[in-house]
Amino acid sequence: MEKQSVKPASKMGTGIEGLDSLLSGGLPAKRTILVVGGPGSGKTILCTQFLKDGIEKSNQNCIYVSLDYSKKAFMSDMMQFGWDFAAFEKNGSFLFLEGAAIRRLPQKASTNEGSYEPEDFTLEDLIDLLALHIKKINAKRIIIDDLTALTFRFPDPMERRGAILSLMESLVELEVTTIMISEAALYDMNREIKPEEYLSDGVIGMFVLKDGTRAIQISKMRGVQVDNKPHPYSIVDKVGIEVFPTETIFGEN
Ligand SMILES: Nc1ncnc2c1ncn2[C@@H]1O[C@H](COP(=O)(O)OP(=O)(O)O)[C@@H](O)[C@H]1O
Ligand SMILES: [Mg+2]
Repeated sequence: MEKQSVKPASKMGTGIEGLDSLLSGGLPAKRTILVVGGPGSGKTILCTQFLKDGIEKSNQNCIYVSLDYSKKAFMSDMMQFGWDFAAFEKNGSFLFLEGAAIRRLPQKASTNEGSYEPEDFTLEDLIDLLALHIKKINAKRIIIDDLTALTFRFPDPMERRGAILSLMESLVELEVTTIMISEAALYDMNREIKPEEYLSDGVIGMFVLKDGTRAIQISKMRGVQVDNKPHPYSIVDKVGIEVFPTETIFGEN
């Protein structure tokens, strides 16, 4: 375990009341948290709710870095919850950095016109680009969606670990609070622990059980006293994620 700083970390509300109650207030500020879960488990929605809360309640500007999800799809999917990120973008409180845009970094432009190989952009480029935009809009909350797509070019576990660490260190230096998304299998609460779970300051798992129940579990949160048992949650149209902190999952609590 890392040595805790003496000063207690200030909290950042997630915009999800039930989750904040499991976190005794919210996520620790200026840390890097991992959200790990299966496809369709609501990782993107949870992260976006966190950004919306920051913009609306704390006047904190936000950036969503997306490797595979297009801005257009993001904007329209999030509108289903009544979250108008196009308006946030217009008023300068939100930036969506798309995979294609990241790969189109000028210094790495492909010689093969119109086609951009994944090798065209490096992790250092992404860090530089992020630093630039964080400073430009004075962003406080960042989402990286997702680590799996970002590090696929590092098949060597040690290299991948190094890449994730350097990204995390840069984000800490930039004094932002970051949620990184990591893909797991759908029915996989007892999955193998991923290296990024050891590296990040906190881990929130989101899973769908075989009977269709959605379960959320905070398995780690450095410097914060948390409820680390699994609890049910649902995804509600026009509302977003709802976590039920007093309800339990198959008698585990
Ligand atoms: N408008 C909606 N109302 C209720 N549930 C929705 C709505 N839109 C999406 N969902 C649910 O959310 C899931 C997608 O959430 P998302 O955050 O994109 O998942 P992930 O990022 O983990 O793959 C869908 O599979 C569906 O179950
Ligand atoms: Mg997603």
